[in-house]
Amino acid sequence: MSERVFIFDTTLRDGEQVPGCQLNSIEKIQVAKALEELGVDVIEAGFPVSSPGDFKSVVEIAKAVTWPTICALTRAVEKDIDVAAEALKYAKRGRIHTGIGTSDYHIRYKFNSTREEILQRAVACVTYAKRLVEDVEFYAEDAGRTENSYLAQVVEAVIKAGATVVNIPDTTGYCLPGDYAAKIRYLMEHVEGIHKAVISTHCHNDLGMATANTIQGVMSGARQVEVTVNGIGERAGNTSLEEIAMIFKSHREMGFATNINSQKIHGISRMVSSLMNMPVQPNKAIVGRNAFAHSSGIHQDGVLKNRESYEIIDPREVGIDDNAIVLTARSGRAALKHRLHLLGVDLEQEKLDKVYEDFLKLADRKKDINDDDVLMLAGKDRTAMQRIKLCYMQVTSGIGLKPVASVCLDIAGEKFEAAASGNGPVDAAIKAIKSIIHRTMTIQEFLIQAIDKGSDDMGKVHMQVEYDGNAYYGFAANTDIIAASAEAFIDAINKFVK
Ligand code: KIV
Ligand code: ZN
Repeated sequence: MSERVFIFDTTLRDGEQVPGCQLNSIEKIQVAKALEELGVDVIEAGFPVSSPGDFKSVVEIAKAVTWPTICALTRAVEKDIDVAAEALKYAKRGRIHTGIGTSDYHIRYKFNSTREEILQRAVACVTYAKRLVEDVEFYAEDAGRTENSYLAQVVEAVIKAGATVVNIPDTTGYCLPGDYAAKIRYLMEHVEGIHKAVISTHCHNDLGMATANTIQGVMSGARQVEVTVNGIGERAGNTSLEEIAMIFKSHREMGFATNINSQKIHGISRMVSSLMNMPVQPNKAIVGRNAFAHSSGIHQDGVLKNRESYEIIDPREVGIDDNAIVLTARSGRAALKHRLHLLGVDLEQEKLDKVYEDFLKLADRKKDINDDDVLMLAGKDRTAMQRIKLCYMQVTSGIGLKPVASVCLDIAGEKFEAAASGNGPVDAAIKAIKSIIHRTMTIQEFLIQAIDKGSDDMGKVHMQVEYDGNAYYGFAANTDIIAASAEAFIDAINKFVK
């Protein structure tokens, strides 16, 4: 009989904090419902006091989701806790996640305080939250670099104050797996009353050890793991949900089980990547494009003779179906609707008709339509409302020719044209757009990624543009990568030109 490990998903809070990954409330509800279908136990839906948008999202997610506990983050501040409790009003099961930094770095430099004072504030915030909700999780921020004996004092005190879960975050991703294991074991052995609360891991991936640390945490006594889809999160990200779920599933001898329906993993991974404009690295474990691609002759031969010679997971277990119907120009609405449903997107008839129209146009230019294309088409109407739109663009370039681009922009209904030359066709197009917009902006990051293999594939462009000291993110996908680059640039500009 396996022991249950609870999955606490923070894609919509820690994951969504990543610059450029912000979702609107409707998109958050879409992800929350997909997380519910995936089988997570807790959804951290946001940090309600941080903005009216975050507050609204927590409220809407609490209304839309039935089974998972809905959790809201706060600082150890009464106002934060009040606002979180208000946002959780509609949750069938609500949890407040409150806490404070406990490492000497946080105590001295962030709070200009003392260990004694921080201990009191920790107890006070749990006591205060406990008056508003039954389920209170406490986080000891930077627990990874907190001295174990002091951490044990804090954990013991907050459990006495009523914390139901205690989170031990390795906020900076500094811990080695052995050290993180020793920390959890130390708490299990030295904290009186430790069994009255669930101990939770929350690991960041700055040194690439988030998954290893989380597994070590569970092996040492933690029974909740805090994770994100595709491992997204600030800096190098958080522990990835799919890795943890598949480790416990593949290594049954460890004796741990989660409630994750692994066949939903591929769909939610594509959905989160597409909505958050965050590409998944091709060699990412479990969900990367190459995770199950055997390219060397020796491997292919081995897999054909017996799949298990080189594959530890059957791709179908994570929802990758080789026999899935390929979408082409001849596919009907029903096939498109079915594929979108598998990817967690259910559209009303009117929206489906519009997506199907765009699908047929794309299928004329591209032989096989993949999941990313379909998700991109389903989310395309996000750009329809933009103030600045690209009406047309013509580019000439070639060997021995100076690249020149002419563009026409529609700005709030008025048309503007310009032409420019550059050191390449993208540079020429960007210069032409800049000559119409007249703002000082610089491209800080520019990533073009093809998803499939063929030369007819869509190019996806992610761009970070700096304007007035702030970073803005643009995204576009097109079979013409110069058009995609210009559209991504315009998408970013639309975020600051009101
Ligand atoms: O990394 C961290 O310490 C956190 C806490 C706010 C839980 O995200
Ligand atoms: Zn975190």
